[in-house]
Amino acid sequence: MTFDEGSVSPVRVGVAGLGRAFVLSRTAFVEDPRVRLIAAAEPREASRKAFVQEFGGKTYETVDALCGDADVELVYVSTPHEFHFEHVCKAAAAGKHVLVEKPLAISLDDGIRMTEACSAAGVHLLIGPSHSFDMPVQMARAIIREREFGRLRLINAFNYTDFLYRPRRPEELDTARGGGVVFSQGVHQIDIVRLLAGGLVRQVSAYTGSWDPERPTEGAYVAQLAFDGCIASMTYSGYGFFDSDEWMDGFGELGARKNMQVYGSARRALKARGPASEMDLKAARTYGLPDRPSTPESYEHFGPIIVSLEKADLRLTPAGLHVYAEDRREFRPAPPFRFSRSEMTAAIHSAVRLHRPPVQSGRWGLASLEVCHAILKSAADKAPVRLEHQVGANDHA
Ligand SMILES: NC(=O)c1ccc[n+]([C@@H]2O[C@H](COP(=O)([O-])OP(=O)(O)OC[C@H]3O[C@@H](n4cnc5c(N)ncnc54)[C@H](O)[C@@H]3O)[C@@H](O)[C@H]2O)c1
Repeated sequence: MTFDEGSVSPVRVGVAGLGRAFVLSRTAFVEDPRVRLIAAAEPREASRKAFVQEFGGKTYETVDALCGDADVELVYVSTPHEFHFEHVCKAAAAGKHVLVEKPLAISLDDGIRMTEACSAAGVHLLIGPSHSFDMPVQMARAIIREREFGRLRLINAFNYTDFLYRPRRPEELDTARGGGVVFSQGVHQIDIVRLLAGGLVRQVSAYTGSWDPERPTEGAYVAQLAFDGCIASMTYSGYGFFDSDEWMDGFGELGARKNMQVYGSARRALKARGPASEMDLKAARTYGLPDRPSTPESYEHFGPIIVSLEKADLRLTPAGLHVYAEDRREFRPAPPFRFSRSEMTAAIHSAVRLHRPPVQSGRWGLASLEVCHAILKSAADKAPVRLEHQVGANDHA
């Protein structure tokens, strides 16, 4: 990716919610001259102060006040799931473009109303950052679209993490309020396989696992997504035993090197603190506090992914793609890594300044949310679920 830093007029961004999600996306907003952070809304004073210190912008206690800021062009909604509906609708009503964190919403009805509100207001609604933006996923998508190795037949995606034992707010452990791995993690896997397979999921069959009574929500699932001509199998466990980053060249999800000799640290930290102070642990990971993620050296990833085409298999890594073809095996490196989530800030600029929105629109996010609900329903009913709100990846590109 190249751009002429002198020729861009940066998109002026206001952030709603200076929590963990903002900590993870912050670097892209700092490094990319195509966007500029100018304001934020956050009830916690410490994070507001840190924002002013770092960016010199304006801060507000409420999202209403942020939306009243005439200088803000796009609101990045990084508040908890349950506020996405309200905050996206407020931003749209104020004429702001929106980037909303995944999942789009908790209920499908809210998701539909959000997409309608943005389209009625004539503003772009983007969903992200999500892992379909990751460069190796984009490289695999290009190979699939160009039919370099024939048609796509099978995708195998799996991920074993300690998601359930990282510090959580109570609602993150309550499925009815958007908790559990399906809404927060499954949505990434869904987003990736939908992008690779063209977007249109026809049917979902799934099983979920809820195995820890102290964390009473889904911690694992297996799901099969049927597309026209291709099937995707997705497995996820957030129970914190095996760590599949071991199979990703030792890079963690966020592209930083990981010491694979350190075992069980999330579970241990939680036990040491006890449930009473779990919120303190969670709060320690928000913006303006010392717990910063390690520096990424590579593209982000979401666990091992193997893509089977008629004439080759592709294996995605943080650095590029392994291609296993009929008569040869090769590695295709990704373009040099610059900073994390640059694909997301590129998408913001492209949508707002060039009127070229990415695949990852509100409608795209709605279709992925529909698959989350289908996984839960299929597991509960022990039956396949057919889908109605799907949108194709090629409709946008
Ligand atoms: N894409 C990613 O890598 C990623 C990573 C983490 C979280 N997320 C998503 O980001 C969202 C937030 O999750 P989190 O882990 O950052 O939560 P968090 O609790 O760390 O942060 C949420 C922030 O929003 C603030 N907030 C709450 N109510 C608010 C309001 N009414 N107005 C303004 N600010 C308000 C909180 O004070 C907090 O600072 C979730 O939807 C989650 O799925 C995405």
